[in-house]
Amino acid sequence: MRRCATTLEPEMTPAELQLLTGLIGEKAFSGLHLEVGTAAGGTLCRMLAALPAAKPAQFRVVDPMTYFPQQLEVVCANLREHELDDTLVDFKVSTSDDALSAATAEGASFDFMLIDGRHDLWSVMRDLRWTRLLNVGGIVCLHDYGLDHSGVKLAVDRFCKSHPHFSKVGQAGSLVAFQKMGIASRPEVSLADETYAFCWSWTLEVERKLARRRAKVQNRKAA
Ligand SMILES: C[S@@+](CC[C@H](N)C(=O)[O-])C[C@H]1O[C@@H](n2cnc3c(N)ncnc32)[C@H](O)[C@@H]1O
Repeated sequence: MRRCATTLEPEMTPAELQLLTGLIGEKAFSGLHLEVGTAAGGTLCRMLAALPAAKPAQFRVVDPMTYFPQQLEVVCANLREHELDDTLVDFKVSTSDDALSAATAEGASFDFMLIDGRHDLWSVMRDLRWTRLLNVGGIVCLHDYGLDHSGVKLAVDRFCKSHPHFSKVGQAGSLVAFQKMGIASRPEVSLADETYAFCWSWTLEVERKLARRRAKVQNRKAA
């Protein structure tokens, strides 16, 4: 069982939460807000509480809700415990891929995005396609950007290099935030990006498994 399933806490550090909620409060966007990957909804509760009370924006949460048993029920209980209005949240019990296709078909657009779903390179690269639906001036945050999650780092670094219209506006711990400054003529994630991510994902996975096995052998020798 994941720890957050019982603690209902965010899977973020206080410094990361401060950056995230600070941006939400400061920008006070009126358009849709998105969270991809919510765990127990701990961070969602903090984000909802940071919305301007007078005119709170709507949130969309995308998650297949298989992180731990009864995940959706736990998230809803967490909202109730914080006395937050769950009518502000539109839960899409779905993978990010499927929810993105539906949002694109529906013509949805967003002012704020937190991308924190699967952390392998292939998935993060595909999740970056959500930025096509981000309004100009909007903010996208990504969590677990760092050496512990090389998939997130590689995907975000490649994305930034080829998209100068996304300007970095903050980093705390492993949370990075970018503002969309304009509209690109081509999709943010190209076929070449997806091919790169697909090929390297396999290599990283094999490396990760080998490192795990080496660590196990070393632990056994040390015991
Ligand atoms: C690291 S946790 C999210 C942590 C949360 N944002 C927080 O700060 O507390 C990752 C979440 O991504 C979800 N997830 C897994 N696969 C997914 C997918 N294909 N699309 C969207 N979310 C996914 C998991 O169910 C889990 O809830």
